[in-house]
Amino acid sequence: MPNQEDFFKKVVSHAKEYGFIFPSSEIYDGLAAVYDYGQLGTELKNNIKQYWWRAMVQYHENIVGIDSAIFMHPRIWKASGHVDAFNDPLIDNRDSKKRYRADVLIEDHIAKIEDKINKECDKAHKRFGEAFDRQQFVSTNARVLEHQRQIDEIHSRYSELMNAGDLAGLKQLILDLGIVCPVSGTRNWTDVRQFNLMFSMKGGNIGDRSDDSDTLYLRPETAQGIFVNFLNVQKSGRMKIPFGIAQIGKAFRNEIVARQFIFRMREFEQMEMQFFVRPGTELEWFRHWKEERLRWHLALGIPAEKYRYHDHEKLAHYANAATDIEFEFPFGFKELEGIHSRTDFDLSRHSEFSGKKLQYFDSELGESYTPYVIETSIGVDRTFLAIFSHALRDEVLPDGSVRTLLSLPPVLAPYKAAVLPLVKKDGMPEKARQIIDTLKYDFMLQYDEKDAVGRRYRRQDAIGTPYCITVDSDTLTDDTVTVRDRDTMQQQRIPIQGLSDFLHQHIQPIHVE
Ligand code: GAP
Repeated sequence: MPNQEDFFKKVVSHAKEYGFIFPSSEIYDGLAAVYDYGQLGTELKNNIKQYWWRAMVQYHENIVGIDSAIFMHPRIWKASGHVDAFNDPLIDNRDSKKRYRADVLIEDHIAKIEDKINKECDKAHKRFGEAFDRQQFVSTNARVLEHQRQIDEIHSRYSELMNAGDLAGLKQLILDLGIVCPVSGTRNWTDVRQFNLMFSMKGGNIGDRSDDSDTLYLRPETAQGIFVNFLNVQKSGRMKIPFGIAQIGKAFRNEIVARQFIFRMREFEQMEMQFFVRPGTELEWFRHWKEERLRWHLALGIPAEKYRYHDHEKLAHYANAATDIEFEFPFGFKELEGIHSRTDFDLSRHSEFSGKKLQYFDSELGESYTPYVIETSIGVDRTFLAIFSHALRDEVLPDGSVRTLLSLPPVLAPYKAAVLPLVKKDGMPEKARQIIDTLKYDFMLQYDEKDAVGRRYRRQDAIGTPYCITVDSDTLTDDTVTVRDRDTMQQQRIPIQGLSDFLHQHIQPIHVE
């Protein structure tokens, strides 16, 4: 079993080697935290988006989808709070000239202490074997308790400083903890400054030139495109509360510390849904969406212990409940999706800034109000990374050889089946192509005739193709083929006319309702 770092390197190299993800602009030495999806990555990514869209829009008659523009009126970002408050605290090291997020330096420092606790546990586990009780060990071992005390102390000081926006205090904490620059090894730090994460550009003539309005921003979230279209959709679609508006689209953030492959990117994609409800019912709906969204993840067949909720204790000023669904990535549990109860903050702010009333007339109550909003927000790329890294493994076979397997949920796999003539002669390639011609309107298929069939199976295993359909000499006389299952490697004989039903049955869309 490789360690987590080696495994993560394997994820990145496998993604590149098989055409899932390439570094952007690679022949020009790349562009930090920007990636391109290759021929197989695009299929997997599209399937993830379709799986989300189906579950959110197709399966809910009260949720509709839109596709709003990336460019939006600059005042939208004033109203949303992004111009004034979408900041990260950054700090530079004067010797290395490298820039860091002050909060990340502190969190990394805490993670190092957590590592020490894990190492103590690993040592004790080896010593005590099966009888090892981690819970008991961490609550009694003196060294672990001391590490935990340090973590708690740093955490509480750090949270207070972050909440108060105390930048001088953050710098002092970095100095007090003796944090050094990983490159220069020195503590020669600048002051901490706020750094806005939005990419901006001068937009030229965009109409209203009051305040800063010739500055255009690349949207840092898709949600605002939904809020500003609330009335358009509600009226044109005659939507009745409660109802939702969903959107999938690109978002851009000038992340200072962009790392961990496609986990934190500067250009990424979000799948967001804003659900508009009657004031006073929002917490009920928040609980509903919290459960519903976790069920969506679990329906993919990934074990439940890979997910956990992280309820926010400290809430943004406009939220009255928030939780993250975290996934256990190769580098630990991290946020995959956020579910937020955003009150009437967004619609009220846009009403205020635009001068247009964004209200709903509730005919049952006979009154107008500003709806409250529950938001579900998930990154496409993070979902890709979660599914891809969970699916990838090396498997030792009974004969001692090793195969690399990408055990993707069939509904998401780039190719649903590969059609393989056993040999490149005797009419087998022609028969294989006939099969492809009858199935290709319903399924993504790949034809492969190169190399021995065993090697072709391995290639399909490595790209996650759930079924290999092999045409052999019997096929030419009895119109049956061998269908090999990727995960079990079991083979069965099936008539060619039964292939479509077989694939439909085994690659069903997953039901989440
Ligand atoms: N509208 C709410 C919102 O944008 P967020 O927690 O900032 O909330 C939502 O982002 C999701 O978008 C995250 O849970 C994550 O999956 C994804 N995401 C955010 N920043 C990202 C980045 N730099 N790279 C990749 N995905 C990102």
